[in-house]
Amino acid sequence: MSYNVAIDGPAGAGKSTIAKAVARELNLIYVDTGAMYRAVALYMLREGVDLTDREQVADRCIRADVTIGYEDGVQVVFLNGENVNAFLRAEEVGEAASMISPIPQVRKNMVKLQKSLAAKSDCIMDGRDIGTCVLPGAQRKIYLTASSDVRARRRYEELTAKGESADLQKIKADIEDRDYRDMHREISPLKQADDAVVVDTSDMTVEEVIASVIKLCSRE
Ligand code: DC
Repeated sequence: MSYNVAIDGPAGAGKSTIAKAVARELNLIYVDTGAMYRAVALYMLREGVDLTDREQVADRCIRADVTIGYEDGVQVVFLNGENVNAFLRAEEVGEAASMISPIPQVRKNMVKLQKSLAAKSDCIMDGRDIGTCVLPGAQRKIYLTASSDVRARRRYEELTAKGESADLQKIKADIEDRDYRDMHREISPLKQADDAVVVDTSDMTVEEVIASVIKLCSRE
């Protein structure tokens, strides 16, 4: 049986940074499930689909064939055979992913792909519903969180360090909107699994969080 770690938590809690570092240390494959929803969202944006039209999104999502590969240990997302990694982190794509991810048909395909990846390999998988829905039997479950103030501040610093202009209040409002949508949708809302360990990173450095998650996830 493969060894699976589930990491869930709100947008901007640092899940991918932490999961990547822990994966390297514990020799696990890192599976970023948000990137899969982002790939479907990218498909819809490229096709000009009205994202508020749930029926149309549900109809069209079967044409977005998302597959995952690994190059030098880095996850590569293919959308209908094209490597789309370079497009997935745009704000617009994240926003669109948040709009389409509540749709059952979209989730059904993604969850199937995620379960099959986890069955095949020892992995650390991050997302919103991993501990509750995708991998309820995961050997370790972590719920990584931080206050919206701290998450907004981190994002603001990330953008300004890149020389991009940013508005802290707007970033915070966007984060809170996305939290609300992710936590209140009908299917697979973001919530802490009963058997998950909560790690609140608000007052921790990245190194402290990595060390603490490694300790929680090592197999001994
Ligand atoms: O983690 P992220 O920002 O890349 O995720 C993008 C969107 O996808 C986010 O708004 C919620 C959704 N998502 C989801 O519904 N279920 C997951 N397992 C992962 C992400």
